[in-house]
Amino acid sequence: MGSTTLLPQILNAVMRGQPKALSDPHYPGWHLAPVTGLLNDPNGFINFAGRYHLFYQWNALGCEHKFKCWGHWSSTDLLHWQHEPIALMPDEAFDRSGCYSGSAVDDNGVLTLIYTGNVKFDDGSRTAWQCLAVQNEAGCFDKLGPVIALPEGYTGHVRDPKVWRHGDQWYMVLGAQDSHKQGKVLLLRSADLRHWHPLGEIAGSGLNGLGDAGYMWECPDLFTLGETTFLICCPQGIAHEEQRFLNAHASAWLAGNFNYDTADFAHGPFHELDAGFEFYAPQTTLTADGRRLLIGWMGVPDGEEMYQPTIAQSWLHQMTCVRELDARDGRLLQRPVAELQALRGDEHRYYGRASGAPVLAAQRLELVLTGSGGITLNFAETLYLDWHGEGLRLARRSLVSGEWHYRYWRGAVTELHILCDHSSVEIFINEGEGVMSSRYFPAHHAQLTLIGDEEVNARYWPLRHLMVE
Ligand code: FRU
Repeated sequence: MGSTTLLPQILNAVMRGQPKALSDPHYPGWHLAPVTGLLNDPNGFINFAGRYHLFYQWNALGCEHKFKCWGHWSSTDLLHWQHEPIALMPDEAFDRSGCYSGSAVDDNGVLTLIYTGNVKFDDGSRTAWQCLAVQNEAGCFDKLGPVIALPEGYTGHVRDPKVWRHGDQWYMVLGAQDSHKQGKVLLLRSADLRHWHPLGEIAGSGLNGLGDAGYMWECPDLFTLGETTFLICCPQGIAHEEQRFLNAHASAWLAGNFNYDTADFAHGPFHELDAGFEFYAPQTTLTADGRRLLIGWMGVPDGEEMYQPTIAQSWLHQMTCVRELDARDGRLLQRPVAELQALRGDEHRYYGRASGAPVLAAQRLELVLTGSGGITLNFAETLYLDWHGEGLRLARRSLVSGEWHYRYWRGAVTELHILCDHSSVEIFINEGEGVMSSRYFPAHHAQLTLIGDEEVNARYWPLRHLMVE
């Protein structure tokens, strides 16, 4: 489909869908979400020339995983975002089945996108091209076409380039499936973003002591914090454990040492990046002052996504909040980015028995709880968090069968830092040791009730509403 045929339909879908989405009580007040249609992965997250840019996988034409474009927002402060022209549409032979995920770099003052051109054939097979696009003076992007073809020894599932600068070279990690249907992460190097030299597999199923670790690894990201190098990835097909990796697909981190000279990544075991019901395909970037930020998709492919009630209002999914990453003793920590504190209204405090705490309006709420457990948090009778001596259990009913589903975080919990926004909850544990992100769809305006005889110390703030302009 050429852009000349897709654009009128996109405009029509936005005109018809946006009023429905924005008036939906489930629509977020301060998280990023599509004005109509389906949003999935964050793409091209970058601080470029003093502005943050965040692109996103977007199907404006419906709530199915089709017609993927790159939508585009920008912001100076990570709070006030503005819509930018659609950056990429699937209108060339090399990206006709979707402009899939990728990243952005500052190439000598030119905002440059590296993305996957996905091509599906009638016989069900597919190929993938890694492509470039550069921003022009109108703020739109000119496609330069493919720079990497499908490497030999891999299936058509090779995608999601994340590119960064190290020394005087560009490096890329790429998600891949090898011809034995094993998930892998490939590393490549380039002097000019146009010519790429493969440096081999740096992690994956059957590598570095991991054993069988899935059939496809999506959305890799490699970065160093202090002494430790982290690889974030979304391995598909890893085993569900009793209390970990329970979503249809996981998002994980591996920590270790990366050697640029030998292209070796010696790393430890998988850790879940987020233990909630909805989290996938995160991407990181660096701020001008050197902080490593992360944003993720608050959704998961192939789960119950197509049963979410917002589809009736023509929209589906949202981003997580922006998080700041740190490393402590080789572990990855995530905290809400400091900029978000500017959303806070007046501070309130409570100390005493959990059950004696006031019922809190949870539409837009930030809450910091300290205590030692024995408490249940009831989010609008739709989502429940049990905080006990061994950790946390988050419970909600299946949107399909009505059965209870659970997610877990194990370990002693002393602090919960909770962000609520209409139909989402992000629970940060022990100053960033863990996070649980989940959507939920209360029948009425969300309220939070604390239950239990144990004592709790609470600080909380209503959060302001922010419109994307
Ligand atoms: C992850 C993903 C990526 C792909 C994109 C397509 O959610 O499947 O691997 O590039 O979504 O929308």
